[in-house]
Amino acid sequence: MVTISAPGKLMLLGEHAVVYGYPCIVSAVDKYLTVVVDSSKGKQDEIISPGFSDTRFIKEAINIFRDKFSVKDPINLKTESELGSFGLGSSAAVTVATLKALVEFFGLHLDKTELFNLSYEVVKKVQGLGSGFDLTVSIWGGTIYFEGKNKKVENLCQEPLPLMVGFSGEKGDTVSMVKLVKEKRQNYRKGIEKIFENIAQLVEKAKVALLEKDWTRFGMLMNYNQDYLEDLGVSTKKLNNLISASRKTGAYGAKLSGAGGGDCMIALVSKEKKRAVIKAIKAEGGEVIEVTVGTAKGGII
Ligand code: PMV
Repeated sequence: MVTISAPGKLMLLGEHAVVYGYPCIVSAVDKYLTVVVDSSKGKQDEIISPGFSDTRFIKEAINIFRDKFSVKDPINLKTESELGSFGLGSSAAVTVATLKALVEFFGLHLDKTELFNLSYEVVKKVQGLGSGFDLTVSIWGGTIYFEGKNKKVENLCQEPLPLMVGFSGEKGDTVSMVKLVKEKRQNYRKGIEKIFENIAQLVEKAKVALLEKDWTRFGMLMNYNQDYLEDLGVSTKKLNNLISASRKTGAYGAKLSGAGGGDCMIALVSKEKKRAVIKAIKAEGGEVIEVTVGTAKGGII
């Protein structure tokens, strides 16, 4: 029997633009999705997944694994999750953990880059459009600068960041938000590309600010990124309310995190302001999610 846990993620800056080749910054969270693989008692695979009900990623990961390594033995696979349904990267974590568990169970080997490449094949098959950014922190942990174009991964740091997370209570649908932006780009190519280029510049500056721990600057860059996401039409009234409440109570910066249309927002907050920001997010009807952002015991375990 093999047990593998992969951490979830939060997008810090660069969402949507990264789908078109631009860079983004993404962090792991200290909450995990766990996959346990054992041999099957029957002739077929048994998949029991209370941890993540969308089993398409698991099934596709098993198919791609079998194709690559010519392994036929049926398996028993179970999942357990701490990630909930807040948009914290369950699909990436389950894909990475399933592949890694299968590789170890059958005594095979993949290095981290090979694991990324195979996981990305699964995501493309199941989801179509997607940058693969979320797979990186499930594999490497910490905070990563990721180039959408050549899938280059650069580790920025492994320390916790002063970020708070607020759930809007609305369920975001990544695939439909990515489609929405794709359609806008088809209709207003020049304008949307310009927004992506501007977002990419913010990401470059944010990378430097993060390495220098210049939170005032990093927060300001998050705010600018939020403006562009609003221009793209992916923010919601509820997210906007949580974001402005956080800013008003003294956050360095706040923005939505991920595809938008719901799910979570993040706020960069000093220790002194944390209690006030928590109160403000709750007062606006948001749910504060207790996670540490930017650390995850070095990724997959
Ligand atoms: O909705 P999330 O948290 O999975 O984030 C999606 C981020 C996008 O850039 C919109 C899509 C992608 O695959 O990069």
